[in-house]
Amino acid sequence: MIAPHIGTRGMSLVADALWIDAKLATFDPRVGAAFGLRDGWALATQGERIAAILPPNAPELRDFREPVTDCAGKWITPGFIDCHTHLVWGGSRASDWELRLTGVPYTEIAKRGGGILSTVRATRAMSEDELVAAAMPRLRALAREGVTCVEIKSGYGLTTADELKMLRAAGRVADEVGVEVSRTLLAAHSVPPEFAGRADDYVSLVCDEMIPVVAREKLAEAVDVFCESIAFTVPQCERIFAAAKSHGLAVKGHVEQLTNSNGAELVARHGGWSADHLEYLDEVGVQALAKAGTVAVLLPGAYYFLRENQKPPVGALRDMGVPMAVATDLNPGTSPFASLRLAMNMACVLYGLTPEEALAGATREAARALGRAERGGTLEVGKQADFLVWDVTHPAEIVCQLGHTPLIDRVRRGKVPPVV
Ligand code: NIG
Ligand code: FE
Repeated sequence: MIAPHIGTRGMSLVADALWIDAKLATFDPRVGAAFGLRDGWALATQGERIAAILPPNAPELRDFREPVTDCAGKWITPGFIDCHTHLVWGGSRASDWELRLTGVPYTEIAKRGGGILSTVRATRAMSEDELVAAAMPRLRALAREGVTCVEIKSGYGLTTADELKMLRAAGRVADEVGVEVSRTLLAAHSVPPEFAGRADDYVSLVCDEMIPVVAREKLAEAVDVFCESIAFTVPQCERIFAAAKSHGLAVKGHVEQLTNSNGAELVARHGGWSADHLEYLDEVGVQALAKAGTVAVLLPGAYYFLRENQKPPVGALRDMGVPMAVATDLNPGTSPFASLRLAMNMACVLYGLTPEEALAGATREAARALGRAERGGTLEVGKQADFLVWDVTHPAEIVCQLGHTPLIDRVRRGKVPPVV
């Protein structure tokens, strides 16, 4: 838990480094101002943590010598967290996209053996090293825009060995790029061809073999499902969640993306970390998420690339106080772009979030969606010192202006890692 005294002893500051005269967009809900702004304040780090957040004339600042970075009024936000990606994959789905542009629906391509299953074929054919090499540029692109923590799912292997291969690759790529990773087992992404017509048998393999080995080898923190007409039913997902929880893993779901299958209620009933997509979410689902405190993860990139017309009920989510996170859903099929800033921009332009909500969605609420609210997502004393220094005059510019990234420093666990 957060120690309020951390970083100060009497009137002197106990810290390794200090950033002064910053506009701190803390996203701390206890700070009343928009963005949780502390204007002109100082932020000190010690080791991997935020040691102090102090007003401009705090006496503790007087005797602190080096290293001090004068931000000269620049903005600092928490590090970005991309809480929903599938960034490890093999092959390309550009031909799916071409087909979709001619009007062939995603569901039809999936039924013809394209879609997710075509990525499964390509991913199975690659070694762990090859998957790492292919994923590296995607994670680098996210990191260059300020991502300090990323969630990465399996789900293109669909055999025990191939799912483990993907999760190991996810751990390695995150280490190489210097980003914290939260790994998720998404074995219930699609019924693999060798189990065609036997989905329940595949669910048994997920529950009885994959989940136990992933938990034992600590290869994932959570288990995800695709609860959808073209994937898994509520009772099948229910079995998977029960197995996940019995092995100490968190649960979450791809739900109400293409139809309303009551998946959000299922995730809420199991106390899930997040319910993701939600285009077809209804009032009952909104209420279930609100009651459970489950985060609604909005993925406007998939909505855009699938040329959907149905938008998630953002107004109802907001009114009911459901926390809303925003993520890229980076994957080769429905959301092939590695830019969390573009996802935030889409959340504003397509879904009607405010820039403040979008930024909160990629920081505070994303941390919550990954079970990290205690240690990340906001600038608060005692939390991980993951933050970004921006050359902007207003934080909305981070979301509004695309094409160049006005990021000066990306600090992760108190250190500026080498440029990725
Ligand atoms: O989040 N909805 C299911 N899974 C992914 C799509 C994956 C794919 O098409 O390869 C998604 O949109
Ligand atoms: Fe997804």
